[in-house]
Amino acid sequence: MKKILSVVGARPNFMKVAPIHRAFSAYPEVEHLILHTGQHYDAAMSDAFFQDLDMPQPSYFMGVGSGSHAEQTAKVMVEFEKAMHELRPDFVIVVGDVNSTIACTLTAVKMGIPTAHVEAGLRSGDRAMPEEINRIATDSICDYWFVTEQSGLDNLKHDGHPDDRVFFVGNTMIDSLHYALPNADKSDILERVGLTSKQYVLVTMHRPSNVDEPKQLGELLEILAELSKDRTVVFPVHPRTRKNIASHGLSGIIDSNPNLKLIDPQGYIAFLALMKNSDFVLTDSGGIQEETTALGVPCLTIRTTTERPITCEIGTNTLVEPTTEGIRRALTMTLNSPSKTGQVPPLWDGKAAERIALIIVKQCLGL
Ligand code: UD1
Repeated sequence: MKKILSVVGARPNFMKVAPIHRAFSAYPEVEHLILHTGQHYDAAMSDAFFQDLDMPQPSYFMGVGSGSHAEQTAKVMVEFEKAMHELRPDFVIVVGDVNSTIACTLTAVKMGIPTAHVEAGLRSGDRAMPEEINRIATDSICDYWFVTEQSGLDNLKHDGHPDDRVFFVGNTMIDSLHYALPNADKSDILERVGLTSKQYVLVTMHRPSNVDEPKQLGELLEILAELSKDRTVVFPVHPRTRKNIASHGLSGIIDSNPNLKLIDPQGYIAFLALMKNSDFVLTDSGGIQEETTALGVPCLTIRTTTERPITCEIGTNTLVEPTTEGIRRALTMTLNSPSKTGQVPPLWDGKAAERIALIIVKQCLGL
């Protein structure tokens, strides 16, 4: 019996690992364990996802919490090394691009444990994003690469990684979307927030470049307030953004605009329902660009670059320059012209995790 350990740390990791855990249940010759680093720790940012995704509680919880990038990454490494000694896995899986991803990859690879990166090869080209550094560093040292889109294959080829360890498998985040949609269709979140399907705009915003500076955050909130005079705006607020709104003294903008509804971060199923029923989405997230493309919902991404170019090339995503004029222009166009339509990218069919499990069991572990 071989032991495989998947790492989750922050909110965008949970939906990528849940289908992988399910897929391994078809192989009695392996035991699949989940380890949670505790990078995200609030109930709304973490626990809710385990329930919504039918994921068992992690076998190991490290509780590292927040800190500067160096502190958080270092804490994860120290605790993960202890966990590795205790759990003794034969194979490690990391997903995405958060600090836990690089911290656990670096630790596992140095301990000589074969490590696979799921969602490998994505590049925004913007080294000011901490996630870009995490992607580059993880991909440069891991042993196997599982890829969601053509650009990932191209980037890994360019970096000289061996073809026989790079696998184009599709997108496990979209596996979770397929799995949870029937429940999202039964969600009562719209009634609870007082929304009508296709008559509101869904907003998420948490990137340091958009929400850390008082001026940028204030301007963004003013634009949302203007938009809310035209269309209801619902904004589930990330803890980072919530803290900054309060500490920069910007709560007044929210209080004086009742159609700008700030709500707590939502669980996976409720958030899926909010996305699916929205008129369009305004975001700076990574994963939401992919989920909206899979759902066929137009998405305006307030960033100058994307590591997921397929969502713009064939999906419903559009990049928007993060300036007041850029965002205003994009909103005016979106409100006054037909929405961007798109196609679902190749292999985003709900079966990516099954492909990954088969490859790991047969090719990587040779079982
Ligand atoms: C992290 C990821 C980012 C991902 C995002 C999704 C990195 C470098 N960034 O960014 O790629 O898109 O998660 O959410 O790994 N906080 C809480 N409660 C929590 C979690 C965080 O209050 O459960 C607070 C922290 O104290 C901190 C802030 O939110 O002040 C940011 O958390 P952190 O994990 O450092 O990074 P994110 O901005 O969430």
